[in-house]
Amino acid sequence: MSLNNKLQKLPPLVFKSHHPRSNKVVTLELPIINGGMGVGVTGPTLAAAVTNAGGGGILTGVALGYPFQKILKKYVGEKPYQANKMALNYWIHDAKEKSNNRFVGVNLMVVVHDFKDLAYTSAKAGVDLIIAGAGLPMALPDIVSDFPDTMIAPIISSAKAARVMVKKWLNKKRPPDAIIYESVHHSGGHQGAVVKDILSGKHQPEEVIGETRKILDDNDLSDVPVIAAGGVWFKDDIIKYMSWGAQGVQMASRFLITKECGHEFGGIKLFKKLYKSNVVPTILEHSPAGLPGRAVPTPFSSRFSYENEKIIPEPHECAAVCLSSCDKKNSIYCILYHLTETLRDNYEEGLFFAGTNVGRPDLDKTELTVEELMKRLAVGESNPAIVQVV
Ligand SMILES: Cc1cc2nc3c(=O)[nH]c(=O)nc-3n(C[C@H](O)[C@H](O)[C@H](O)COP(=O)(O)O)c2cc1C
Repeated sequence: MSLNNKLQKLPPLVFKSHHPRSNKVVTLELPIINGGMGVGVTGPTLAAAVTNAGGGGILTGVALGYPFQKILKKYVGEKPYQANKMALNYWIHDAKEKSNNRFVGVNLMVVVHDFKDLAYTSAKAGVDLIIAGAGLPMALPDIVSDFPDTMIAPIISSAKAARVMVKKWLNKKRPPDAIIYESVHHSGGHQGAVVKDILSGKHQPEEVIGETRKILDDNDLSDVPVIAAGGVWFKDDIIKYMSWGAQGVQMASRFLITKECGHEFGGIKLFKKLYKSNVVPTILEHSPAGLPGRAVPTPFSSRFSYENEKIIPEPHECAAVCLSSCDKKNSIYCILYHLTETLRDNYEEGLFFAGTNVGRPDLDKTELTVEELMKRLAVGESNPAIVQVV
């Protein structure tokens, strides 16, 4: 951490609703939001802690009925979408209560069957921001048009996707209120590019962030922030992304090893232990969502690594009919089951999504509270892991 960066104060992050009937403006003291981590990883305890520490707390909002199946058993299986809605509604209200009714966002996947229902439920429950990825959320402005104060942001991983989203939403007279850029070279979870493009280095952050900023500015949308995700660990990383044209960052892997993350499911101890072991994430060629993924290599995920010549599908029951891209029993595996097993500390069966930073032994992986982490990010920190090596 250079002295200059240590002295540099991070600017606030300003969100403004571009709905024609809204004057809503939200200013976050720090330009940091947490990435939504599904299924069930980023709950109300983490989201509220991020907001209370000056950033923006984001809940994951998809398929929540399934991890809560013990409580919602009369719905899951019979009425899975009802269960998802109930759990999401409860989490939004809980996060709002824990953060004194301040900023709460939700992360949704376009590729789930009940995307429309979940987006509507989120807006009705009063979320401040809906972030939607895993597909381009073309219809989101229409779904939430009755809720002017619900701000909306697509996730993109390429300049082409940014151009398409801005054009489509401008045609609907509802520009985005933010654009989230997820780097396919660093982020955990599903990736918005094919494996070949990831491996050949396409869609580098500097280039995509710069182009996205320009697309917005050229369309008189200079008040729409670009929020960059992937590989952020330190204040220096935030400053680097800002120098490329971002107004804020979204961080996931480092938030996963905070004390508050996974609180609703017993603290996700194995997930955190795996992250701390510095094991290098692998890229999964296939997922029932139709996208590659980045995850910790485990007995399960290794069977679907892009490096395997032959991928053998694993037949399964379908409990919750979650993905519109999934061919149920004929798909290669049940992603909902394997993601939920991570919440249950199941090493053999869990699908532990992870960003590339997880594999770096030179990073400090101390488990902090969210407040401690946000203070370190604001001030800048020396990396104890590096100091030890020296
Ligand atoms: C465990 C885990 C689950 C994730 N789940 C989602 C998700 O459901 N939706 C999404 O848009 N991004 C998801 N992501 C991506 C993050 O929100 C974030 O953009 C990305 O991981 C940022 O990179 P970082 O982990 O290096 O900070 C996930 C990431 C991880 C590590």
